[in-house]
Amino acid sequence: MTPDVLPHEKLDRAVIFLGPPGAGKGTQAKELARRFSAPHLSTGDMLREHVAQGTSLGQRAQPIMGRGELVPDSIVLRMVADRIDRPDCSHGFVFDGFPRTVAQAQWLGELLKQHGFKQPLVVHFVINPGLLLRRITGRRMCKVGGEIYNIYDRPPKCDARCDNDGGELEQRPDDREEIVGPRLAAYERQTAPLVAYYRRLGRLRDVDASKPVEEVTARVVEIVREAR
Ligand code: AP5
Repeated sequence: MTPDVLPHEKLDRAVIFLGPPGAGKGTQAKELARRFSAPHLSTGDMLREHVAQGTSLGQRAQPIMGRGELVPDSIVLRMVADRIDRPDCSHGFVFDGFPRTVAQAQWLGELLKQHGFKQPLVVHFVINPGLLLRRITGRRMCKVGGEIYNIYDRPPKCDARCDNDGGELEQRPDDREEIVGPRLAAYERQTAPLVAYYRRLGRLRDVDASKPVEEVTARVVEIVREAR
């Protein structure tokens, strides 16, 4: 059995979750961050927050995200650099959705070196592509705390309300079926090459993301511990 919160265990590096949209990166990143009391850095969540707040960055990112394309590095890299500079990131953190291109990975490698971090650990979510459409179109997120549900596989106890804080659940605009194809295509073209990139560097560990959430969590925790 996997222990729950691990009060004496800290992350000692960046852990990167890599995998296609809907593979379960956000679900697992939240859980790993909770167990190791580490920050969960989701570039998707950061961008969605800018969109919700109507910042100029959010206004530039919104139409791009709505088409299922990647937001330019001129927006994303500044956001990541600012976040890593915050004191809560001094031990390590969990990246979900970043890096997404080889250029972003090279930039991140330099940034981590400058901050004195060890080489990152990359957890690769390997999944049967046939599961992705159901996971993406069935996803609902809490407007308040960002908790992730699935109307098919992980429904809330109370219809359309978050179990944790009662917040309203909503569907992401890019989770509509017609945007799923472009998102998966962007992943194959721009992000999948990172698998070979990190494997060559000896940083990659595969996880079977088709398994139930608890089994994936147990394996991810095991991988993180083995790397320490
Ligand atoms: P982002 O928010 O990063 O989305 P994504 O990478 O497309 O990944 P998802 O959030 O769709 O999936 P996930 O793997 O986190 O799955 P989840 O855990 O939610 O990016 C959104 C957009 O922002 C991009 O398209 C781009 O425009 C922009 N962007 C972000 N980062 C960028 C960057 N670095 N550069 C440029 N642009 C960037 O799970 C999915 C569903 O499955 C849920 O319903 C969940 O309940 C369910 N589920 C999870 N695990 C399981 C399981 N084991 N069994 C059954 N159901 C499960």
